[in-house]
Amino acid sequence: MKVLTVFGTRPEAIKMAPLVKKMNKDSRIESILCVTAQHREMLDQVMELFELVPDYDLNIMKPNQTISQITSNVLIGLEEILKKEKPDMILVHGDTTTTFASALAGFYQRIKVGHVEAGLRTYDKYSPYPEEMNRILTGNIADIHFAPTERNRQNLLREAIPDDKIFITGNTVIDALLEVANKPYEFENEVLKDIDFENKRVITVTCHRRENLGENMEHIFSAIKDIAEEFDDTEIIYPVHMNPKVRDIARKILGNTRRIHLIEPLQYQPFVNLMARSYLIITDSGGMQEEAPSLGKPVLVVRKETERPEAIEAGTVKLAGVSRDTIYRMTKELLTDKDAYEKMAHAANPYGDGHACERIIEILVQYEQQAAHSD
Ligand code: UD1
Ligand code: UDP
Repeated sequence: MKVLTVFGTRPEAIKMAPLVKKMNKDSRIESILCVTAQHREMLDQVMELFELVPDYDLNIMKPNQTISQITSNVLIGLEEILKKEKPDMILVHGDTTTTFASALAGFYQRIKVGHVEAGLRTYDKYSPYPEEMNRILTGNIADIHFAPTERNRQNLLREAIPDDKIFITGNTVIDALLEVANKPYEFENEVLKDIDFENKRVITVTCHRRENLGENMEHIFSAIKDIAEEFDDTEIIYPVHMNPKVRDIARKILGNTRRIHLIEPLQYQPFVNLMARSYLIITDSGGMQEEAPSLGKPVLVVRKETERPEAIEAGTVKLAGVSRDTIYRMTKELLTDKDAYEKMAHAANPYGDGHACERIIEILVQYEQQAAHSD
């Protein structure tokens, strides 16, 4: 079976790397990798860590790129590759614009599409934007759906996706997390080396979503600044996403502030270790809502909604919204109320057991055997 995997951003790379590595070693699969490089530096960090070398690199990233640019460049870039390679299946992940455009490119060449991390929904097409629509459209195109959880499966069934095309596998992010989290690690980053993790309460922050750019992000960062000013036993570590629009707001509100450290995006291994040594996490990331429960770290999600209610039910994640006052109050509660903190700080694994990639590969191989039979 010839499988062409396509991804382009940091989170897709983290979540697909363990799968691609396993497929590369499986004699039943001819595995080809194409990166769109919708992200450049943040993608390359992951490729280096997992020692992956792509067969094709579309290298599409432009500063301040628009969604239309990404979509058209991926579509055009993939056309030739698909015509040349003629894979049996193209594998995409999640909800980025690389994901949707690659699925569409596959459909245009009548190539089967497999969707990993299928079935997440908020049911608000503008939040997260454009991810909710990207995953709905990808789900409509896909021939086979790898749903992390039963809830994700139910979401797909509601959209009339046939039951026998949906497989619950767990989320591959747990495979990636377990691969790096269990190895001993000392920080090399100059800022992290000097942080007193024993005596300070470290708050890890990330924030990048398009719908938060502007006013929401200003509110989020102002709340974080309020916390840093009030609690002198905290250190705020914020590896700032490379989007220039995010960097401008972060610098404006959080730059040159005591106890706040704006640093470059971290490699996955130091980042996982930072989360593991943090007191709590404040983020609008999707993937970190899946990782933090496994690490037993409380997460305040600075968004109005989440497509990951399993983490909220597991008790380690809370929606904090985007208002300065609410984020400040919820963070303060976790810093001052031991019971409230302890209720959230426990390990739970609603997203899987670290074996999602093996399941996906077995399902893919069976799927191809059945398809060959029916031809
Ligand atoms: C993208 C995805 C989002 C995903 C996020 C993960 C879309 C539309 N958005 O959002 O779903 O959650 O990645 O981080 O698919 N940049 C660099 N170097 C990098 C990466 C980004 O310079 O390595 C800068 C570039 O100026 C780029 C900008 O950041 O134009 C924005 O990147 P883009 O991929 O368009 O959007 P993200 O907000 O990163
Ligand atoms: N991450 C990382 N380095 C960082 C920040 C995040 O490796 O400096 C990891 C994080 O552990 C998670 C993923 O990147 O696996 C999240 O990526 P991002 O927030 O860009 O995207 P999202 O999760 O929102 O799709």
